[in-house]
Amino acid sequence: MFDFKYFTPTKVIFGKDTEGRVAELIKEFGGTKVLIHYGGGSVVRSGLLKRVTDTLDAAGIAYVTLGGAVPNPHLSLVYEGIELCKKEGVDFLLGVGGGSAIDSAKAIGYGVANGGDVWDFYDRKRTATGCLPLGVILTIAATGSEMSDSSVITKEEGLIKRGYSSDYGRPKFAILNPDLTKTMPDYQTASGCTDIMMHTMERYFTNGGNMEITDALAEGLLRTVKKNAIILRDDPQNDAARAEVMWAGSLSHNGLTGCGNDGGDWMTHKLEHELGGLYDVAHGAGLAAIWGSWARYVYKDCLHRFRRFAVNVMDVEERGGDEEIALCGIEAMEEFYRSIHMPTNLRELGVNPTEEELALMAKKCAIGVGGAMGSAKVLNEQDMLNIYRASM
Ligand code: NZQ
Ligand code: ZN
Repeated sequence: MFDFKYFTPTKVIFGKDTEGRVAELIKEFGGTKVLIHYGGGSVVRSGLLKRVTDTLDAAGIAYVTLGGAVPNPHLSLVYEGIELCKKEGVDFLLGVGGGSAIDSAKAIGYGVANGGDVWDFYDRKRTATGCLPLGVILTIAATGSEMSDSSVITKEEGLIKRGYSSDYGRPKFAILNPDLTKTMPDYQTASGCTDIMMHTMERYFTNGGNMEITDALAEGLLRTVKKNAIILRDDPQNDAARAEVMWAGSLSHNGLTGCGNDGGDWMTHKLEHELGGLYDVAHGAGLAAIWGSWARYVYKDCLHRFRRFAVNVMDVEERGGDEEIALCGIEAMEEFYRSIHMPTNLRELGVNPTEEELALMAKKCAIGVGGAMGSAKVLNEQDMLNIYRASM
């Protein structure tokens, strides 16, 4: 194993009607003027935003609102939010919605706390030395942004999607009420389950440092989400399954399932981020479309982990050689994606890039990772292009 840091400062309030405690939590963390940041309107339609503002009104907490964070959230709205916060003297951010609204709120927080151009952080030109305090009311179980150190933003000019990670961006509190996820479209539920599993799989397929305790947590999480994704496919309102998936989403990306290893592979995410930036696809669906091609490209370089995954997560019988078992595990995973109506290639994802566009994505991806990256297998630009081609 490797030495590790595990830092999860987020206070989690989990359960029915917990959004009613939002004012109390904002006060606990010192907020006096709040920016409520949300997405395209689902929180308006569901009545959640009204409930939140009513609660803040009753508690005498001042606030301003800014909606409009789109999936693959845009830098221009982040700039708008930064100006609004400065003008209004905002000292606390409340992200209400999914990963996009939360990530956009984190970016606003970096911009206000650090000054200068916030894109510098995403462009690896500067490191943040602070962030406005942020609380979260989550409406979609998927990205884990409610506990993670990451924020992913798309710069419209050049369609560049980049992540920035810093402990300063970890939310102070996360309100997790599984009932709030019941209005999600089925496609988003399945896409969210895919993303949740992938956050643990990125940490699982590594060539260094794996610990037995971390593997047991990871495999338990993966089996749980796999099972409950199927339950939600057939019964989207199932309370227990909503709760299992929501908590798994937070645990999958707060660092827990990577303790002791070399930091994880993360190349499926990096390859997907180029797709999300260029074609605006749902993040989890994009991951499902890429993963099989990535897995077949790298599995021989990380055979022990793919074999273990096949047996312990996908219930593949231990018959035949290691490669055969590993490949059966990859096929079983793709079969699972299909069973929850997720794509397993770019065509099924609904995008049809030209050879030039594939080359452009590989180039941007290579630049984004600083040339080459990966733990299951280190991938360079040519490898990235090969995987994109294989996923057509
Ligand atoms: O925008 P609204 O109207 O709220 O609608 C959203 C959006 O259309 C809708 N939705 C969310 N909750 C709903 C709901 N509709 C009905 N009922 C509800 N309860 O779902 C759609 C997707 O929302 P979004 O926030 O975009 O989804 P998600 O949480 O999957 O976030 C995706 C973004 O997060 C990034 C992704 O790359 C992508 O940009 N990621 C962030 C990470 C992080 N910060 O740690 C890690 C991830 O790997 C990921 O990269
Ligand atoms: Zn993800």
